[in-house]
Amino acid sequence: MHAYLKCACGTSVLHSIKHEQTRNRTNNLVPDSRQPRIRHTIMANTAGQVIRCKAAVAWEAGKPLVVEEVEVAPPQANEVRVKILFTSLCHTDVYFWEAKGQTPLFPRIFGHEAAGVVESVGEGVKELAPGDHVLPVFTGECKECRHCKSEESNMCDLLRINTDRGAMLCDGKPRFSKNGQPIYHFLGTSTFSEYTVIHEGCLAKINPAAPLDKVCVLSCGISTGLGATLNVAKPKKGSSVAIFGLGAVGLAAAEGARISGASRIIGVDLNASRFEDAKKFGVNEFVNPKDHNKPVQEVIAEMTNGGVDRSVECTGNINAMISAFECVHDGWGVAVLVGVPNKDDAFKTHPANLLNERTLKGTFFGNYKPRSDLPNVVEKYMNKELELEKFITHDVSFSDINKAFEIMLKGEGLRCLIRMDA
Ligand SMILES: NC(=O)c1ccc[n+]([C@@H]2O[C@H](COP(=O)([O-])OP(=O)(O)OC[C@H]3O[C@@H](n4cnc5c(N)ncnc54)[C@H](O)[C@@H]3O)[C@@H](O)[C@H]2O)c1
Ligand SMILES: [Zn+2]
Ligand SMILES: [Zn+2]
Repeated sequence: MHAYLKCACGTSVLHSIKHEQTRNRTNNLVPDSRQPRIRHTIMANTAGQVIRCKAAVAWEAGKPLVVEEVEVAPPQANEVRVKILFTSLCHTDVYFWEAKGQTPLFPRIFGHEAAGVVESVGEGVKELAPGDHVLPVFTGECKECRHCKSEESNMCDLLRINTDRGAMLCDGKPRFSKNGQPIYHFLGTSTFSEYTVIHEGCLAKINPAAPLDKVCVLSCGISTGLGATLNVAKPKKGSSVAIFGLGAVGLAAAEGARISGASRIIGVDLNASRFEDAKKFGVNEFVNPKDHNKPVQEVIAEMTNGGVDRSVECTGNINAMISAFECVHDGWGVAVLVGVPNKDDAFKTHPANLLNERTLKGTFFGNYKPRSDLPNVVEKYMNKELELEKFITHDVSFSDINKAFEIMLKGEGLRCLIRMDA
């Protein structure tokens, strides 16, 4: 294989031919030449036109997704149309797909953890061009608001996470449709589609040498857990850290504790089958709340002579959130909430727990600013400071996307990679 024949997604010519075949099969805009070509040449042909491609549409809450052809309109002002090459399933997709306690918004295209290549850009897009490799992020960075200008926040005024919005900001319309019927977006990303339209501020431009089938997991869960520890909990060397929930986000938080030099990393999960895998992520002690007849915060306080130095909650369960706070040591303990709670949940603790100098914090996306910081997290993987392979435990083709949901609902594995071209 010659470097100049490499496709823009970083894969080989063979792969590039396969992209063309996929387009033919899905009745997409077909290039005139039969020769293998570099992808940005092909992409230029579709700029400004409606693309017909495969997407996994959720027509109803909790019902299997239907992989079918949809229309994707061209990007408008400050928007970018992205060819998604790899996506993976995060608990947040499943949660909104189930729509339990949510305002249901259907039909919708879910998906927010992914990697792809820019196909075309709308008016006013300054920092991205066709062929750029990007990670979509569910919360954006406009670079102009007070939050974006503050070193302490990633809660952009314009583009912060909005789970109720199903359309694009500039005109309030979705870019997806099927036979004229609009299909709603999810988290501004909707990556369960071969092509999607995303605001420029929700796309991190990354090193084109980074393998997209690995770094796609940095687009949500792994960066969230890692940042929750490195940027928010900030454990000191030799300290103790409790991690509640040993899914991908929790194990990424454990990875952050390991990188920080924490000596005791206590994993807490109701699912004992998580414990064996968690050892690979530096978790060296385990507590299953089901094995004890007293609250888990008391169990942890006894194990650690009064409480852990830091705790990171990655379950989404309100009781785990309260336990994660109440298990930190008084005087200096810091608890960080990461899990997404149910709509009507309320956090209840005695105020004395705060007066006794414990700190409660929460984070979105591990406090990383998507465009400014995510490229550097990708570099941590490229420099071998961070391992991503161990998070990717399953792998399915796009047509089998419902299997990824089944695997997550069974509580098996960590991340399931969905290959759009397979
Ligand atoms: N704040 C953010 O920016 C952000 C970003 C991504 C994901 N999330 C949220 O983080 C959470 C974790 O995501 P994930 O993909 O790792 O999910 P996951 O389902 O893979 O893992 C969750 C783990 O928590 C365990 N658990 C559930 N209830 C528990 C309890 N009461 N006590 C102990 N363990 C319990 C489960 O057994 C499971 O192993 C989810 O709520 C997700 O929505 C938040
Ligand atoms: Zn997510
Ligand atoms: Zn902003």
